[in-house]
Amino acid sequence: MSDNLIAPSILSADFAKLGEEVDKVLASGADVVHFDVMDNHYVPNLTIGPLVCDALRKHGVSAPIDVHLMVKPVDRIIPDFAAAGASYITFHPEASEHIDCSLQLIQSEGCKSGLVFNPATPLSYLDYVMDKVDMILLMSVNPGFGGQSFIPATLDKLRQARKMIDDSGLDIRLEIDGGVKVDNIREIKEAGADTFVAGSAIFGAASDADANRYDTVLAAMRAELAKAGS
Ligand code: DX5
Ligand code: ZN
Repeated sequence: MSDNLIAPSILSADFAKLGEEVDKVLASGADVVHFDVMDNHYVPNLTIGPLVCDALRKHGVSAPIDVHLMVKPVDRIIPDFAAAGASYITFHPEASEHIDCSLQLIQSEGCKSGLVFNPATPLSYLDYVMDKVDMILLMSVNPGFGGQSFIPATLDKLRQARKMIDDSGLDIRLEIDGGVKVDNIREIKEAGADTFVAGSAIFGAASDADANRYDTVLAAMRAELAKAGS
């Protein structure tokens, strides 16, 4: 299995000083920047778009940026995110009329592609497109907001997705998003995830007074991941 990647969701960062927040969380040992895009249509919340992704790149962020599209439709905005420096672009199959086309569009723009599964969305959407996905993202909360509780049924779904990936022999990351904390990251890893989004658990972890405020929580997550059996 691939190395563990920890992907802080900037949804829970302080947007008034986003560049500094991203610098700090990466300096604290995070691997990937998880970038939640919401449109007040596919989900009932409104967040950030390609301009902000571009601003992070211009600020000097060189880590992978994992753009999680919670927008409908998806195709119009994909080239804009590619031009803005996205590394991964993932979308929800319910939000695209032509899933295969959207996956191809992402890859043709030079990005890694992925499909995102809501808690009630079946993995069967993967049946004919496994060769066009670089990432499978399982939502362990309903999309729209940070700070929700992990839905335990996602652990079985992770095991199913892990088996599909292993059986395929393809190089596909398995990402989990929603309610990931220090106290459950180990069982999430044991169920098959290799990429861990965490928003409130990381950005809510300590006070402004502590200059290294994300080091402690990231180290605690890494320590839990290191204890995981297979
Ligand atoms: C929810 C977003 C998540 C969210 C995770 O729609 O996709 O990335 O920010 O936040 P936590 O870790 O607080 O559940
Ligand atoms: Zn997300």
